[in-house]
Amino acid sequence: MAMPSIPQPTFYVFKCEQASPPGMPKPSCVTPDTRDLFNHAAQSLMKKGLMGPVQVIRTSCLGRCQMGPVMLIEPGHHMYCQLSKEKIDKIIEEHILGGNPVAEYLMPEQYWGDAVKLQS
Ligand code: FES
Repeated sequence: MAMPSIPQPTFYVFKCEQASPPGMPKPSCVTPDTRDLFNHAAQSLMKKGLMGPVQVIRTSCLGRCQMGPVMLIEPGHHMYCQLSKEKIDKIIEEHILGGNPVAEYLMPEQYWGDAVKLQS
């Protein structure tokens, strides 16, 4: 029996969901003020009928804690930083739906340079 083909998602959205324990000197992406950003992103995508073509994934630390809350959108290695609900809504409209990354919300280049080249 032939299996139906299943299309790939158009985007993967990796949202850092790391919360530091109390007393840790290092900041983290999830605090009492930011803990509902993942649900906000998921609900916004769901309301627009984008769940499926867009896969939202909870991750642990993405290594840019000082600039959190962060989320990475693939393809393209687009790392968004200092997120809020309003920024997420604009990213969904302009990047996910419109195909244009929101330049002013992307991680500054000095913190998100070219990918490290691995030796073969
Ligand atoms: S805690 Fe989110 S990038 Fe480190």
